[in-house]
Amino acid sequence: MSESMYNEKYRPQFHFTAKNGWLNDPNGLVFYKGEYHLFFQHNPFGTKWGNMTWGHAVGPDLVHWNQMENALLPDTMGTMFSGSAVVDWDNCTGLQKGDERTLVAFYTADGGTVTPKVSTTQCLAYSNDRGRTWAKYEKNPIITEITPGNRDPKVFKYMDKGGKSKWIMVLYVDDGGQKSSHIHSIYFFSSDDLKKWTFLSKTEGFYECPDFFELAIDGNQENKKWILIGADFKYMIGSFDGIKFIPETAKLICDFGQNYYAAQTYSDIPEEDGRRIIIGWMNWSKSPEDMPFNQQMSFPCTLSLKTFPEGVRMCKYPVKEIEKLYEKTVEKTGIPVKSGENPLSDIEGELLDIDLEILAGSSSEFGLDIRGQKISYAVGEEDLSFNGTHVHLPMVDGKIILRILIDRTSVEIFGNEGRISISSCIQINPENRFIGFYCSSGIANLARIEIRSLKSSWK
Ligand code: FRU
Repeated sequence: MSESMYNEKYRPQFHFTAKNGWLNDPNGLVFYKGEYHLFFQHNPFGTKWGNMTWGHAVGPDLVHWNQMENALLPDTMGTMFSGSAVVDWDNCTGLQKGDERTLVAFYTADGGTVTPKVSTTQCLAYSNDRGRTWAKYEKNPIITEITPGNRDPKVFKYMDKGGKSKWIMVLYVDDGGQKSSHIHSIYFFSSDDLKKWTFLSKTEGFYECPDFFELAIDGNQENKKWILIGADFKYMIGSFDGIKFIPETAKLICDFGQNYYAAQTYSDIPEEDGRRIIIGWMNWSKSPEDMPFNQQMSFPCTLSLKTFPEGVRMCKYPVKEIEKLYEKTVEKTGIPVKSGENPLSDIEGELLDIDLEILAGSSSEFGLDIRGQKISYAVGEEDLSFNGTHVHLPMVDGKIILRILIDRTSVEIFGNEGRISISSCIQINPENRFIGFYCSSGIANLARIEIRSLKSSWK
């Protein structure tokens, strides 16, 4: 590896990027035998979208990644659009050879981007060697075109109350078809062998890259709800009887930032871990042009459902494995802060994970300036703002809690332990290492702050 590789001026240091070329959606997120697989929409030939290929990275801990050979290359059926992957533990596909369980990937072959154009279909690929090499299923497609543009199959195993299981696929379909009026729908299918799929039902109002999973409310495994998300990460909470999703809420927002899209959750996380881990694409139209790569993934997070005065909401919070990157921690507690003071003036940093708890006290506004990135909280309105985004974040017992991850081109903010998040891409001045906390009137109390400097994932 050349010395500057992974250390270019605007190369994220703890967010995944392709070594070279473009990336967008995370695909095929699956865990098998100690390895997290991260496939991704990839253009190996340039830093703009095109030639869609499944790139592939593998890592032991969600913070270190090793980019492998590309897994799925375009063929006569199309370029390789988004999809998912599962472990076929029981060899229901009959595709296992040797001792390793088969990893099975589902992708869209986008027939519209090959010459001659063909229909857009859902296809299967599999690996018998822990994801090192992939073969496309000889009887592809597994689902023929429903309407042009149908895409992004996400597959998971569903277990009914009696302990009987079947595979479910959620798929984006434009029910408006080629007509000018679009009806964005998610189709639900089921299968016993991952190869033959039967239509079950559909839910309208979600566009591209669906994911569908169950979460326990307040950690109670006896009280779970189903969550449907689309590519914009808006979600509905509801119930699922193995055939149809019945929403019980309007569409809700978890991440209020401008740069979180096409997120996907991991399949086959071991039961004893039990987390629902998600990675999103931090889509960014203003990325620096002089880099050999383009676009980055979000930092992996855990999803949960928690009860708030306004109802049950989905929370998103960074995975604990970030601790593996901690280099130095500075901790301060119980500091009253008046206008004009900066209790952090003795600290600076570049790659940061900051966790703080602030008692509003008599202040009307307080906030942080981290490397020129201003995060502020208006106490009266209970309004958290960053970079033009405003989010209502109610105080709990007169305080708010913030967690902030700063990399070379991103800021991810988590309010009140994941109640809300703001994922943003931004070109941060590499020279600026300033860290400040301010209060603009009255006195706020910085009850607790931990500032952790991070090592690069690439070292
Ligand atoms: C979402 C998306 C998917 C599609 C892929 C193509 O960002 O448009 O619907 O499969 O990107 O790269």
